[in-house]
Amino acid sequence: MGMLDNRVAIVTGAGRGIGSEVAQLFAANGASVVVNDLGGAVDGTGGEAGPADDTVAAIRDAGGNAVANYTSVADYDGAEGIIQQALDEYGRLDILVNVAGNLRDRMVFNMTEEEWDAVVAVHMKGTFNTTKYASIYWRANREGHYRLINFTSGSGLHGAPGQPNYAAAKLGIVGFTYSCANALGRYGVTSNAIGPGASTRMTDTVPTDRRTRGFDEDSETTVDPRRSPANVAVPIVYMASEASDWMNGQVIRAMGFDIGLYSQYKLIRELSSTEMWSVERAAEEMERVFRPAIEAGNVVGG
Ligand SMILES: NC(=O)c1ccc[n+]([C@@H]2O[C@H](COP(=O)([O-])OP(=O)(O)OC[C@H]3O[C@@H](n4cnc5c(N)ncnc54)[C@H](O)[C@@H]3O)[C@@H](O)[C@H]2O)c1
Repeated sequence: MGMLDNRVAIVTGAGRGIGSEVAQLFAANGASVVVNDLGGAVDGTGGEAGPADDTVAAIRDAGGNAVANYTSVADYDGAEGIIQQALDEYGRLDILVNVAGNLRDRMVFNMTEEEWDAVVAVHMKGTFNTTKYASIYWRANREGHYRLINFTSGSGLHGAPGQPNYAAAKLGIVGFTYSCANALGRYGVTSNAIGPGASTRMTDTVPTDRRTRGFDEDSETTVDPRRSPANVAVPIVYMASEASDWMNGQVIRAMGFDIGLYSQYKLIRELSSTEMWSVERAAEEMERVFRPAIEAGNVVGG
């Protein structure tokens, strides 16, 4: 008996890295999986069938059920076809995991419009595209323990300085997940986000020593088990299962052998007045009340 027996999942970006591990662990736990991957370069350009086919072959070799899909999640009309493929192949859709991602890192003052658009198109719009068509199916078939699981990043949650496009898209995905949590709960859908950490070809583009991140000298494979993307897949199996109905609108972190829960945004100080504030008084009170709170640790990047 697997935790995902008789469940049907779509995992986008499942040809490599974390997505491939999620798809394989889903299948090992009994799910039938649509393995979506464009098969492009880290910057999102190009495309080939190889990565999605490789994950499907690994799943089938292990005795599981999977089919490949090569559509870009950034393609609004194409995204409908990804959902339709799950329905055509397996007759239902229980789980959507939006993993697909690209990178175009640049400081904000050097970033081109094209670099901004390319990253927002895959992460933020891509997450919307697949979710929209999945949610149409879920709303029409309200009997399930449906699961939407979106990928965010510490880059957005903490503000990576060299990734303004990616940080914006990844925190945008959190807002989108919260909106879906409030909108789709009534149809039996839970919506949660996951912020992972693992050595993949994506993190390999960050200009620090590969060895400190557990890579073999000249391969894409991580040698440090704490940096393996396989760790990230483990809590996602539970989040995708029927047992996790109680978890909605949450951000989970999965990195190495640690699984974490982020807090929700909370108003921590508020200045109230019975009349409109004067600029002078607002300045004085903001400095008096907010500044000590910020200096005590309420800082971005923490
Ligand atoms: N690796 C980390 O430490 C880390 C940290 C924070 C967030 N993330 C997020 O985790 C997810 C997986 O990242 P990864 O590290 O495994 O990267 P990866 O590059 O190994 O895998 C990403 C996959 O997405 C596919 N893809 C890219 N654009 C696509 C598109 N338009 N349509 C369909 N597939 C597309 C790629 O072909 C690739 O196989 C991403 O959303 C990433 O932003 C990763």
